Amino acid sequence: MKVRAQAPSIKNSTNFNVVADSKTAVGTTLENLKAAIAGETGAYTKYMTFANAAKEQGYDQIARLFTATAAAELIHIDLEYAVVAEMEPNYQKPTAAAPLAYACDLNLISGANGEIYEASDMYPAFIKKAQEEGNLKAVNVFTRAKLAEAVHAERYLAAYNDIDAPDDDKFHLCPICGYIHKGEDFEKCPICFRPKATFTAY
Ligand SMILES: [Fe+2]
Ligand SMILES: [Fe+2]
Repeated sequence: MKVRAQAPSIKNSTNFNVVADSKTAVGTTLENLKAAIAGETGAYTKYMTFANAAKEQGYDQIARLFTATAAAELIHIDLEYAVVAEMEPNYQKPTAAAPLAYACDLNLISGANGEIYEASDMYPAFIKKAQEEGNLKAVNVFTRAKLAEAVHAERYLAAYNDIDAPDDDKFHLCPICGYIHKGEDFEKCPICFRPKATFTAY
């Protein structure tokens, strides 16, 4: 993802449309925040399961990618939880059951499918609703998550294509928005502009 002159937002970007066959049940923004937290919790649990499977199957670099992406979903959960807690202080975060893991290539495709759904359906639909409600905090957290999810999908598909040609690159996680960069060749987060020095390497 390229670094633009201004951080990407729904105002200056043309990739925030909702897919025509949307599978997202849109509620109030409070309900949507909770649905997003549930979805991110499921993704976190799934990726930790897939990270263990990748390690057992001998795909160490892909295990690191799943672990980094799981950590990114935790960032999204915290961002969304902070907005929910302002509206509903007693809200408790949900948990998710671990799914079955399959062969590493299929786990990468499963991850990419989920990320594409979130980036092109769930988050754009929730952003639209949050805009209608004038909830700018929700617009902002959904936007950062949406942009990061599309990058996660890109990382998973790249790992799928290169599953038999791993390298020593590390994955660098932005602690603010969950963006993940492969390798050292970058200066700052293209989503939230955080400098590389603040990233966590996996
Ligand atoms: Fe993600
Ligand atoms: Fe970021």
